[in-house]
Amino acid sequence: MQRYLMNFNTRNMETRTTECLVVGSGVAGLTAAVRLARRGHHVLLAVRDTLSDSNTAKAQGGIAAAFGPKDNPALHLQDTLTAGAGLSDESVSQLVVTEGPDDIRWLADNGAEFDRTEDGQLALGREGCHSRNRIVHSHGDATGAEVARALNVLAAAEPNLRTMEGCYIVDILTHEGRCYGATALWHGRKICLRAQHTVLATGGLGRLFQHTTNPEGATGSGAALAARAGAALADMEFVQFHPTALALPGCPNFLISEAVRGAGAHLINLDGKRFMPALHPMAELAPRDVVARCIFQEMTKANATYIWLDARHIQGAAKLFPMIAATCREYGVDIEKDLIPIAPAAHYMMGGIKTDTWGRTNLAGLYACGEAACTGLQGANRLASNSLLEGLVFGRRVATIIGKTRLPQAASGLYWQEESLAETPLEFVAEDSNRSQQIMSRYLGIIRNASELACGEEKIQELVRRYEGCAAHTPEELDLRARLACDLLIVNAAMRRQESRGAHYRSDFPEKDDTYRKHFSDQRPVYDDAKNINDDNIAAASIGLAL
Ligand code: SIN
Repeated sequence: MQRYLMNFNTRNMETRTTECLVVGSGVAGLTAAVRLARRGHHVLLAVRDTLSDSNTAKAQGGIAAAFGPKDNPALHLQDTLTAGAGLSDESVSQLVVTEGPDDIRWLADNGAEFDRTEDGQLALGREGCHSRNRIVHSHGDATGAEVARALNVLAAAEPNLRTMEGCYIVDILTHEGRCYGATALWHGRKICLRAQHTVLATGGLGRLFQHTTNPEGATGSGAALAARAGAALADMEFVQFHPTALALPGCPNFLISEAVRGAGAHLINLDGKRFMPALHPMAELAPRDVVARCIFQEMTKANATYIWLDARHIQGAAKLFPMIAATCREYGVDIEKDLIPIAPAAHYMMGGIKTDTWGRTNLAGLYACGEAACTGLQGANRLASNSLLEGLVFGRRVATIIGKTRLPQAASGLYWQEESLAETPLEFVAEDSNRSQQIMSRYLGIIRNASELACGEEKIQELVRRYEGCAAHTPEELDLRARLACDLLIVNAAMRRQESRGAHYRSDFPEKDDTYRKHFSDQRPVYDDAKNINDDNIAAASIGLAL
């Protein structure tokens, strides 16, 4: 794998130096940044587009937590493990379901407004695979927007926190297993961001596929950056498809929250029949991977690009889900009177940069949290609304561990360079981005098998070869390179897992096989890639974690 994506030399580059570099403005990145700044750390928050562009801001259903009178963390844990299909790490899951409620209280105490019952308790909705009502929500179906708003207000109030919008991280800088920051493109300028601690909270990779609920930036940049720098990744075969995205020609794949099914909506095939009760005891509220697969099979049988979601019998549906109702109305669908055309769409990456319970990667000074990370919580299939929760918990935990960690400064004279990369064949970039999405959707979607995976891998490799040894100069080129790196990681992981588990379904191995009840983790060589090494530098690079 090519180590760097641009020609640069940190000795003569515009350089910013900070204590903590946080990349990404979703719930995990903002939580980490705000909490670090509040502890007095200097934080630089690098955001690729604007602060308001994140998967978090688009989240509808909410945040799962055991607040209900008949609920408790043990039940939430059990549901998380069931959805995770044998691959969720029990101790990590335990930690998240136990600590999560306090993180939600912290957010509410700091300005986030959640929907409440008349007596002031949190109003709790229901989503797939949850045995209790435990989804905390805001403005009905605009929870993510409220979480993002509240965290952005907190971030803006922190004098120790500087934000750089339009900042695309290009490469992580490492030396002897330690991360020292990153290079970036900032409004077309190459810059070096030197940092003691670097936190990747770059979100997911739904944009690798043609149909996705994710925003433009979800191209797997974090996983690609980490892999090139030698960080370990895990569980890359597990891509979650949300069962119900709006499927109308010419309209974006707008999410129709699982909370709509939680409120009683039914899935109806094109023969007008409800099919889920015959397929799973939890019917429409079965684990997400099961529902997505059943919908896909109905679509395949009918040779159609959608089936229906029926919310017509839900009293006051438009009031319960105002954003969904308004968006559907824009496209001519009245959710109280019409059937809603839906299809599964790529939604969430369970795998990612492998971390411990403090968000630490295998590279000292490099952390990951949120969807970019693989903490072990999500297993083979994430339980609905556990992702904002994970972002809050691990954003805080990363901030805590950074506060307790002393890493040596980079020795003076340590620099990084790459000056041998060729020009990218620009004429292919847009076409190859589309092509890679087609390949991923065709060969690595909801149902996979060995021959299709092999075919997909060959086609991805063809694209990868075109850019080998080339520099990327624009966000579009960087996105394409991130896509291709993640495409390869996913296809390799999917080929290796010869069983069906959670979101990874192989028609040639349709059963779970417990010899595969383990995580596959890819770790590339950690590059010894800094220059000008002398005795001082070597001493400075020996890492000590003071916990
Ligand atoms: C939804 O509202 O259905 C999405 C929630 C999630 O992905 O956890």
